[in-house]
Amino acid sequence: MTDLDSTFPLTFTLTPSEAVRAEVEREAILADPGFGKHFTDHMVKIDWTLADGWHDAAVIPYGPLLLDPAASVLHYAQEIFEGMKAYRHADGSIWTFRPEKNAERLQRSARRLALPELSTDDFVESLKQLIAADGAWVPEGGETSLYIRPFMFANESFLGVRSAQKVGYYVIASPAGAYFPGGVTPVSIWLSTDYARAGRGGTGAAKTGGNYASSLLPQEEAYANGCAQVLFLDSSEAKYLEELGGMNVFLVKKDGTLVTPESSSILDGVTRDSIIELAKARGHKVEHRKVTLDEWRDGVASGDVVEVFACGTAAVVTPIAALKGDDFLVGDPDAPAGELTMSLRQELTDIQYGRIPDVHGWLTRLDA
Ligand code: COI
Repeated sequence: MTDLDSTFPLTFTLTPSEAVRAEVEREAILADPGFGKHFTDHMVKIDWTLADGWHDAAVIPYGPLLLDPAASVLHYAQEIFEGMKAYRHADGSIWTFRPEKNAERLQRSARRLALPELSTDDFVESLKQLIAADGAWVPEGGETSLYIRPFMFANESFLGVRSAQKVGYYVIASPAGAYFPGGVTPVSIWLSTDYARAGRGGTGAAKTGGNYASSLLPQEEAYANGCAQVLFLDSSEAKYLEELGGMNVFLVKKDGTLVTPESSSILDGVTRDSIIELAKARGHKVEHRKVTLDEWRDGVASGDVVEVFACGTAAVVTPIAALKGDDFLVGDPDAPAGELTMSLRQELTDIQYGRIPDVHGWLTRLDA
């Protein structure tokens, strides 16, 4: 369903919140935001109907949505989302990272989930509009940021199984510290053998809630086994690495080659793509191809695989110390973070926080 030009470009109205948090309350939250627990004073909403396309773009007070119990998202999970961050630079300005990539991925997800596409310009404008209202919520210092969550879902009250004719797009934002409670320390990963995340022709490459819902039970297994995340293998042969519950994965070989799984059923990560570019620019060979579980297991045993890390918007770059399964352990859960892992992480965050020049042209200013 394409709707890119119906009402483009959208203009936004603003209804200011009457319950804006006092500065002292906001500052207390920003001092220790955690991840995904606190939300800003406003949100963006844009309506879509089959008859009128995208319309009624607005910044409104943050608050509960009124949904009819028959809203189709509640029954058939026609929903997609994005994850991105706003970073405050030393001069106070507010920036985001490669938003056009998120816009394009949201468009691809929309196509797969039979939802209407929102243009890249309207998507980026929706972020700017929210920051215009809630810029004070972008924390400063350390590696804090304002996590931005655009999402879209079917809100037609109809129980027939077909793509909805009434859809809502929203953007909410949440001040964020580290995704993992331990901060940037190496994590152990649990290998899921009973469950797959997505199959061929399924929705694995779309950023849709169902993929995450199906990861929750294996994720519980991971927690029960002392692991921070779960790793999925391909659903047909259970042989190839796919992705973790909410992030992509890289192996680093001893000759400096980076290897990351290629699959039609995993997410095309913006952070993954950026790591690939940063590594290539440093002269590393990067292989984006099918990767077997044995390559990780045998590689660690032989010394050929020297570092492993996860990456994603929320996780940034997180070192992986070990992979655990029912009857095996690969790596050492107490191993320190890999050197290349941490230096790629540093370069990426230095760009995002404006500490080094943005030679790739990846940043977009949100507050001007
Ligand atoms: C992100 O990294 O932004 C994600 O969407 C992963 C997770 C928090 C769901």
